[in-house]
Amino acid sequence: MAKVLEVTAADFLPARMTLPALREAAADCKGCDLYKRATQTVFGEGAAHAAVMFVGEVPGDYEDRVGRPFVGPAGKLLDKALVEAGIPRDEVYVTNAVKHFKWEPRGKRRLHSKPSAREMYACRPWLDAEIAVVRPQIIVCLGASAAQALLGKDFRVTKERGRMLKTAWAQWLTATVHPSSLLRIPEGQDREEPYRLFVADLKKVARQLRTLARTPVQV
Ligand code: URA
Ligand code: SF4
Repeated sequence: MAKVLEVTAADFLPARMTLPALREAAADCKGCDLYKRATQTVFGEGAAHAAVMFVGEVPGDYEDRVGRPFVGPAGKLLDKALVEAGIPRDEVYVTNAVKHFKWEPRGKRRLHSKPSAREMYACRPWLDAEIAVVRPQIIVCLGASAAQALLGKDFRVTKERGRMLKTAWAQWLTATVHPSSLLRIPEGQDREEPYRLFVADLKKVARQLRTLARTPVQV
């Protein structure tokens, strides 16, 4: 059977693979239908050669308006946890598996909606390009979508969170929960313990980072 040629982000990649060139090209991406209902592309940002790359799922309502990743409530919680874990912000690059906000109307609000497998696939070239250009030493997947994008659909964050894995993407890769999941815990339920576990996973990243900094680079 003939393979149907589908449009993906790969059709919009720039000739020059630098972060500014990628960001500019991604602004015009029409690799899937999500650009039609979003305000703008939310590309990753951070230090050009950050040691740690955090990968979320998809920008939220705030991110869509501002055009920057992790600037809403989940991003604020991530920032706080980074400080507590001792991961310097200037060592960090943050991005998402999918670069346009996906939402459904709920009254006047725009509710986050989970990207489909097709949308994840279509947007993947941007993430691959970011990894290739930034070359982080450690990738941290936030939540199941990002983890399954990089580790396969059988990966279970609940079982494997916090474990440092050897993968082709970076020297080390690990997954933890998404900070949004902590914000969704209903009031009255314990929010402290899940947050503490999240910080504990990030502390493992901080520790690994310090170990890598002490290890001479193999050439
Ligand atoms: N959630 C994400 O996955 N990414 C963001 O940028 C914000 C919220
Ligand atoms: Fe392109 Fe990704 Fe936006 Fe789809 S979600 S249009 S693939 S940048």
